[in-house]
Amino acid sequence: MLNFNFCSPTEFVFGKGRENETGYYVRKYGGSKVLLHYGGGSAVRSGLLDRVKTSLTANGIAFVELGGVKPNPRDTLVYEGIELCRREQVDFILAVGGGSSIDSSKAIAMGVPYEGDFWDFYVTGKQIERAIPVGTVLTIAAAGSEGSGDSVITKEADGLKRGAGSDLIRPRFSVLNPELTCTLPAYQTACGATDIMAHVFERYFTNTTEVEITDRLCEAVLMTMIKETPRVIADPNNYDARANIMWAGMVAHNNIVGVGREQDWNSHGIEHELSALYDCAHGAGLAVIMPAWMEYVCKHDVMRFAQAAVRVWGCKMNFADPEATAHEGIQRFRSFLRSIGMPINFDELGAKKADIPRLVQSFGIGSGETGGFVHLKAEDITKIYEIAAHAAL
Ligand code: NZQ
Ligand code: ZN
Repeated sequence: MLNFNFCSPTEFVFGKGRENETGYYVRKYGGSKVLLHYGGGSAVRSGLLDRVKTSLTANGIAFVELGGVKPNPRDTLVYEGIELCRREQVDFILAVGGGSSIDSSKAIAMGVPYEGDFWDFYVTGKQIERAIPVGTVLTIAAAGSEGSGDSVITKEADGLKRGAGSDLIRPRFSVLNPELTCTLPAYQTACGATDIMAHVFERYFTNTTEVEITDRLCEAVLMTMIKETPRVIADPNNYDARANIMWAGMVAHNNIVGVGREQDWNSHGIEHELSALYDCAHGAGLAVIMPAWMEYVCKHDVMRFAQAAVRVWGCKMNFADPEATAHEGIQRFRSFLRSIGMPINFDELGAKKADIPRLVQSFGIGSGETGGFVHLKAEDITKIYEIAAHAAL
């Protein structure tokens, strides 16, 4: 196991009706004037936003609003939010929604006290030194941004989707009420489930040995998702299944299952080019890319893929041909994704094979290499997109 620091300062406020306590937690973490930041309307339609406002008012907290965050959140709204917060002297940002609203909130939070362009944090590697505090009321189990120190934003003008990270932007608190996810369309539920599983796989495939505890934690989260996702697709109001998924989404990405081990993250980078170009859901892009990446890198450590196949997917180990077992596991992952309504190739996602050179160029590694588990060059990324383009069951 490698040396590590693990800092997860977020207070999680989990369970039915807990959004009614939001105002209390904003006050607890020092907020007196809040930016209420949300998406395209689901939180308005469900009545959630009104309940949150009532709670803020009951706790004597003033607020201004900025809705309209799009999935794959854009820089343009972040700039608007930064200006609004400065003008209104906002001291706390409250995201109500999914990863997109939370990531946009985090970007605003780091942009307000920064004199330069907030985009510096996403493209130049500039370290975040200050951020105003963020809290969240989560409405979709997916990105894990409610517990992570990451934010992913798309620059509208040039279509670049990039991430920034720091413990300073981890939310102070996150309200997780699984009931709020019952209004999700099945497709969004499945996209979220795919993202959660991808966050675990990015950590599971590692060159670090002797990491039994995190291996087993990863397997537990994956097996939970395999059990619970079909239950909520069949019965969207199943509270217990929703609750397990919501907590799995947080556990998958606050890094408790990834500490002490090298991680990969190439599938995410390769996917981000798809959601930047086609504006598809991140989870749907991952459903197409992640199994393709697995096929391409499997030979690097056949026994680790065979281990996943046996322990997670319940395949029988073929001792004479472990690679066959490894590939069976990857195909079971694809079958699972198809069974929950996810695309598994370019056609089903709405992507075009002719765009592959453009995707690779935008990925932007030039003649360099990227990735933790297997170092990939531009030609490897091309091959992964090609496998993804033609994937079948
Ligand atoms: O905008 P509204 O109207 O709220 O609709 C949203 C949106 O259309 C809808 N939705 C959310 N909760 C709902 C609901 N509809 C009905 N009922 C509800 N309860 O779902 C759609 C997707 O929402 P979004 O916030 O985009 O989803 P998600 O949480 O998957 O976030 C995706 C973004 O997070 C980034 C992705 O790249 C993508 O931009 N990621 C962020 C990470 C992080 N910060 O740590 C890590 C991830 O790997 C990921 O890259
Ligand atoms: Zn993700």
